[in-house]
Amino acid sequence: MKTFENITRIKITHAPTPLEYLPRLSNALGKKIYIKRDDCTGLAGGGNKTRKLEYLLAAARNEGADTLITIGGIQSNHARQTAAAAAKFGFSCHLILADVKGAPKKDYYHNGNVLLDKLFGAVIHQVDDSLNGEELAEKLAVKLTLAGKKPYIIPVGGSNEIGSLGYIRCAKELAVQIRAQKLSLDYIVLATGSAGTQAGLLAGLIIENIDIPVLGICVSRESVLQKALVKDLLERTLVQIGMSASLAKDRVITHDGYYGEGYGIANQATIEAVNQCAKLEGLLLDPVYTGKGMAGLIDLAKQDKLGSNILFLHTGGSQGLFAYSDIF
Ligand SMILES: Cc1ncc(COP(=O)(O)O)c(C=O)c1O
Repeated sequence: MKTFENITRIKITHAPTPLEYLPRLSNALGKKIYIKRDDCTGLAGGGNKTRKLEYLLAAARNEGADTLITIGGIQSNHARQTAAAAAKFGFSCHLILADVKGAPKKDYYHNGNVLLDKLFGAVIHQVDDSLNGEELAEKLAVKLTLAGKKPYIIPVGGSNEIGSLGYIRCAKELAVQIRAQKLSLDYIVLATGSAGTQAGLLAGLIIENIDIPVLGICVSRESVLQKALVKDLLERTLVQIGMSASLAKDRVITHDGYYGEGYGIANQATIEAVNQCAKLEGLLLDPVYTGKGMAGLIDLAKQDKLGSNILFLHTGGSQGLFAYSDIF
């Protein structure tokens, strides 16, 4: 039977990532704020995709693939980390990157993540956001196969039941740190988009018998849809490691109050959260994901809705700051 421990992975992550206390932000909010530094996972500047790619690359290798295809927005952190992993492990890499309407113009198309994608040697296919990325990926895979390649498609954000396994590993790491530091956390807060991080983390906490609520701050869609997406992936992740899908019941919480005008568009609260963390803690967030996640944490903590001890899961993304010079 498949158990979590016997699923193959390629070790990439600099783990365990630190679990730190943020004293000056804590002071400002009148709560104890902790941070799990998954912006320090290594691989092209780090971020949550390192953990997912450990399993996705192992699956690609098992299938004999020589080329990775993935999908994202122009400033996708997932694309940047996939391009780096491809370079490191000898795959070719094709990125289907969709335009993001309403994003800043000045540096968006050539700086930040896109600049790094090119540095890692990825082939970039820039497409209109009205097109279906998955369909384009399938078509590209057919074309590459006809040309003698062996492509492997990694879904948006690396979020399927394989990629999510990386966050089971994160939850296990977190469990050890929480016990060692004798923390009693009331909430874990993170940015949720393609859903794999929240789903995997919850699966891991379920395995560890930890029932701290995990609040996903939506960055890609409204709460009802996001919650359904995370729950579905959590169920599939649990089943794939031999556990019951019913364990997902009542575990997924999402909040779309910090989503603003849409994916990739930073609102005032996001800009303030990025500025506040930089100035109080010397900590880099990003305008697309962690800035929104932190804006949610700050606002809800001020309203006393997250208890006294709150952990922020930093999922990376600060490379994207350089594409948003217009707003900082
Ligand atoms: C920096 C950062 N944080 C959070 C997320 C959201 O994680 P997930 O897509 O697993 O929900 C992403 C996804 O691309 C990301 O790049």
